[in-house]
Amino acid sequence: ATDSAPQRYIAAIDQGTTSTRAMIFDHAGQVVASEQLEHRQIFPRAGWVEHDPIEIWRNTRRVAAAVLAAGELKPHHLAACGITNQRETTVVWDRSTGKPVYNAIVWQDTRTDRLCEELGGDVGADRYRERTGLPLSTYFAGPKVRWILDNVDGVRERAERGDLCFGTMDSWLTWNMTGGPDGGVHVTDVTNASRTMLMDLRTLDWDLQICEELGIPVSMLPAIVSSSGVIAALRTGGSFPDVPLGGILGDQQAATFGQACLEPGEAKNTYGTGNFLLMNTGTEPVFSEHGLLTTVCYRLGDEPARYALEGSIAVTGSLVQWLRDNLGLIPTAADVEDLAARAEDNGGVYFVPAFSGLFAPRWRPDARGVIVGLTRYADKRHLARAVLEASAYQTREVIEAMQADSGVALTTLKVDGGMVVNELLMQFQSDILDVPVVRPVVNETTALGAAYAAGLAVGYWDSPEDIRRNWAEGQRWSPAMGQDERDTLYDGWNRAVTHSFDLA
Ligand code: G3P
Repeated sequence: ATDSAPQRYIAAIDQGTTSTRAMIFDHAGQVVASEQLEHRQIFPRAGWVEHDPIEIWRNTRRVAAAVLAAGELKPHHLAACGITNQRETTVVWDRSTGKPVYNAIVWQDTRTDRLCEELGGDVGADRYRERTGLPLSTYFAGPKVRWILDNVDGVRERAERGDLCFGTMDSWLTWNMTGGPDGGVHVTDVTNASRTMLMDLRTLDWDLQICEELGIPVSMLPAIVSSSGVIAALRTGGSFPDVPLGGILGDQQAATFGQACLEPGEAKNTYGTGNFLLMNTGTEPVFSEHGLLTTVCYRLGDEPARYALEGSIAVTGSLVQWLRDNLGLIPTAADVEDLAARAEDNGGVYFVPAFSGLFAPRWRPDARGVIVGLTRYADKRHLARAVLEASAYQTREVIEAMQADSGVALTTLKVDGGMVVNELLMQFQSDILDVPVVRPVVNETTALGAAYAAGLAVGYWDSPEDIRRNWAEGQRWSPAMGQDERDTLYDGWNRAVTHSFDLA
């Protein structure tokens, strides 16, 4: 890069569940540079998952500096920066010191299960669904904020005095990147706000009644902004000094945007720590009758918001990490493919990874992980295979729910995320769905989606049509399994799931 061609690129920060990444893209949507740092996963008790927000902010600054160095670029080469993030993970911090009052409570954390049950009262889990699109679940941010207010000493009083801010990771990073205690901007975008269970899906504003019922002071809440639009200039000492922050999107919505799912009926499935299947449903929210979430897909500037139906699966890629870290069966996550490929089939073994209960489409907080079908014959190869197959079966469940809700039959499945390099899994996914599975050339659709949102805000790209033009098919897997085998396997999975219930 030379100074004679300034502002040729767009940056994105992708603050995910296991790592924070900074990426730089060019106008064709190709990756110019990428840097990544993992952060600690803190498990204080069974069912609890936390992150250290200070560590994540430090990692963000580091990867931002590193990505510029890797691309041999200066901040003035960047036309804009976008932020995308693990959704729902909740931080509460002091607005005058910038200190978090507690660790971030991660989306996978189930400590609010009893609270959610109480909040449901006589109505049950659907109490807020009509307004928020979400069932009452440990997954969402609102109950996590309430937990912090109820359980951390002195926090409720400080919140009521107006001293504290709540935010998901996008808000936490934006506030810090725009000055922190010294004028930091306290915002979140509509997609992230739609995961708090505190936002009205139609007005796109905080639902004051729900906030009151959850006992959350409105003064803690960020302002809700569009997913694409200039928010502020990033500040020196942050990451990309003086570069406009042009967009924020929850990571799954960003991937949907980056995959060019711009028209109603278009969908993608991301294989990350969990799996998240989102289908664009256009400008009207569609409410699910089959266990899916209704969520904001994106909002560009002052245009009407686009909505999505979402099937969220809590544990897919993180099950591979569990096999590596908790059982030590594989040295690296990538080794799961070789181990699984050494067996011809699953040997009758099924692994239901209900570590956070089961999310879509079943929403069973009482479910816990089970391995069934063991015989003296089964060994670690079958376990590895069952681990991979679990992602594919869970995906089929949410696709069936999606088809039932939308009436749209899936003809191909667009995929992305860390696990899609796993050929065995992708072939099995296509087999168990009986539809082709397609991966784009640029698999980094999450960061790319945030970059598109930011670039559109500053006129670097002209319209979302540029996204469609940049999208290109990379690889395709086609079904090669007989119907009998498909039915037998899926039936085995469904029977296995019933054994995971009532274990909490
Ligand atoms: O809703 C949780 C989701 O946003 C997490 O995504 O990719 O960080 O596992 P990921």
